[in-house]
Amino acid sequence: MAIESSCDDTSAAIIENGMVISNLINSQEVHRQYGGVVPELASREHLSRIVPVVDRTIAQSGIKKTDIEAIAFTKGPGLLGSLIVGVNFAKAFSLAMDIPMIEVNHMEAHVMAHFAEKPHPKFPFLCLTVSGGHTQIVKVIDYNEMQIIGETKDDAAGEAFDKSGKMLGLDYPAGPIIDKLAQKGKPIYEFSVSKMDGYDYSFSGVKTSIMYFLKRELKKNPQFIEDNLADICASIQKTIVDYLLNIFQKATKAEGIHHLGIAGGVSANTLLRSSFMSMCSQNEWQSFIPKFEYCTDNAAMIGISAHYKFLNNETVGQEIVPDARLRI
Ligand code: KG4
Ligand code: ZN
Repeated sequence: MAIESSCDDTSAAIIENGMVISNLINSQEVHRQYGGVVPELASREHLSRIVPVVDRTIAQSGIKKTDIEAIAFTKGPGLLGSLIVGVNFAKAFSLAMDIPMIEVNHMEAHVMAHFAEKPHPKFPFLCLTVSGGHTQIVKVIDYNEMQIIGETKDDAAGEAFDKSGKMLGLDYPAGPIIDKLAQKGKPIYEFSVSKMDGYDYSFSGVKTSIMYFLKRELKKNPQFIEDNLADICASIQKTIVDYLLNIFQKATKAEGIHHLGIAGGVSANTLLRSSFMSMCSQNEWQSFIPKFEYCTDNAAMIGISAHYKFLNNETVGQEIVPDARLRI
């Protein structure tokens, strides 16, 4: 069984022989009214939901609690209070059931979501992991060997979507809302992006460029956002997606690796998915995208990652503590 509690989703999953049997995700709605995740509220919500989520996941899987051979949890990165709930639940479950614990790195797990189904990429492959807190190009050498070869120096791609959406008056998280609105618009506005060294990203420049653009246009027409919302969303989305893929393509060519994946919450984006697939087919590269429910935060990916650690006997003891800033 695997537990994910790093941010604002309480999730549990049952994995058998590397296959997902059940995966339940309970997304916290309470943060919507604040326009972002409130860490203190997130940990309190995890605390009240973790037991019912685990109970329902086990019931759905059809197995008995006593069939569970190991308990996996997210060690980090994430919000410390949220991680503490998952880690302590795992410790208690491990003691009560007398089974081993397996620690999982949340960012490695996003990459490992590719192994929840077949066909999956062959090692080595490159994965563009794009979430609310991270943007990384990861060279995946093996299940347990990954290197970050490029990453954002400030905001993550998901944050760029969410913060732009906030400027437009959209709810949190704005990423999926921008995605939906963009489908009715055209990318007619241009925003500048920062040029970085190597395969790194910077999203704070995009955010500033959007902010000044909106200020300028709102001076001329106070209704500018309402009148042009779909086109603004389509333009923001295209700027972010093109920027992500241009650098990913540069890294791919330089590394000479032609099995590619995308992962993380932003990989649920319609334009990113389609542009990624066409980039790969134009270059005759193999593209891999996890199933939608394995892109945003979920315990199935934690369980898949843990499965390979379990095969290597990589278990941890009761002294384990979460690490909010854990790196690959
Ligand atoms: O991986 P994830 O579920 O949580 C983190 O680990 O951060 O990613 C959440 C991020 C949010 O910023 C959300 O706006 C973004 O993923 N996101 C999207 C879409 N669905 C989720 N961004 C753009 N388009 C989407 N369809
Ligand atoms: Zn995540």
